[in-house]
Amino acid sequence: MDKTLNIDIIKSSTSKLETTNFDELSFGQTISDHMFVADYIDGAWQNLKVVPYAPLQLNPANATLHYGQSVFEGMKAYRNEQGEILVFRGDANQQRLNESAKRMCIPELPKEIFMEGMRSLLEVDREWVPKQTGCSLYLRPFIFAADDYLGIRPSKKYKFMILASPVGKYYAKPVAVKVETRFARAIEGGTGAAKAAGNYAGSLYPALKAQKDGYDQLLWTDGKTHQYIEESGTMNVMFVIDGVLITAPTTTGTILKGITRDSVLTLAKEMGMPVEERFLTVIELEEALNSGKLEEAFGTGTAATVAFIRLINIHGKDYELPEVSEDAFSVQILEGLDNIKYGKVPDKYNWIMKY
Ligand code: COI
Repeated sequence: MDKTLNIDIIKSSTSKLETTNFDELSFGQTISDHMFVADYIDGAWQNLKVVPYAPLQLNPANATLHYGQSVFEGMKAYRNEQGEILVFRGDANQQRLNESAKRMCIPELPKEIFMEGMRSLLEVDREWVPKQTGCSLYLRPFIFAADDYLGIRPSKKYKFMILASPVGKYYAKPVAVKVETRFARAIEGGTGAAKAAGNYAGSLYPALKAQKDGYDQLLWTDGKTHQYIEESGTMNVMFVIDGVLITAPTTTGTILKGITRDSVLTLAKEMGMPVEERFLTVIELEEALNSGKLEEAFGTGTAATVAFIRLINIHGKDYELPEVSEDAFSVQILEGLDNIKYGKVPDKYNWIMKY
């Protein structure tokens, strides 16, 4: 333990471990016994502690409730065969949290508070990292404004917290997606690249409309012309067309810089897969579906991992994708990533933090 940080640990007198069914974990429903909390007051992060998971007391004038000044991350801890806990690319999540925070006028969170907070929580809730194949402990770091003030300005006080939730698959089956050409998730100059709470709130209405029509998720297009595929609601999106892996670039500020996205691109290049980071137009996608050149489509994300896409709706027409075969690129990449996350192969990219 890094004594310089002084993290208070208050352990819960009860545990939900016994009553949690680890064989039937759905995403995000169960939260572990403890949580990490830190306060930003008078220009400094302080009061670092791990405490029993419990409701917060919020004043109804809390700024986050009104104006959504809040950012979050998603990362996962895995258990290897030796019982060690492996966190995948936590340093990348730490960096991205601060990038999102900057865009939302939230003060920077020092790396050591993020890392030590996570480490302390994992130490106390170690038993919550599932032993079941394919499962993990999803970690949800987040920062939100804590001022009680109804005027519009960046808050002066904040809370940083980390929750831990044992999870199985986010999508149990391959997904059906609909290309969205009316509503927008993000526009250039907006907050699309930030993992900001409001981005998700704004996406709910169009996503719900699509879900009512039987689609699991949307494929968002650019907010100006709706001609270019950007990302999906819970993940970045990738296509294999004529043997080339294509995914949207993250240079426009409208697309989340996915850590799984980056990991897949790194492994793809290592596998010798041609990779193009470029915008795919809706017309190109439709042509590739019509001509049979679209070999695979899948989403990438921490929660979703690699989620196979089985159907794409474009302008009201459903296109079924070929069934994913065992030697498909997306299957190989999922296996390759899992091998690293569960410590089955050497960690040559230094992506794993071991506890
Ligand atoms: C994640 O993949 O960690 C996310 O934050 C996506 C969320 C919609 C579950």
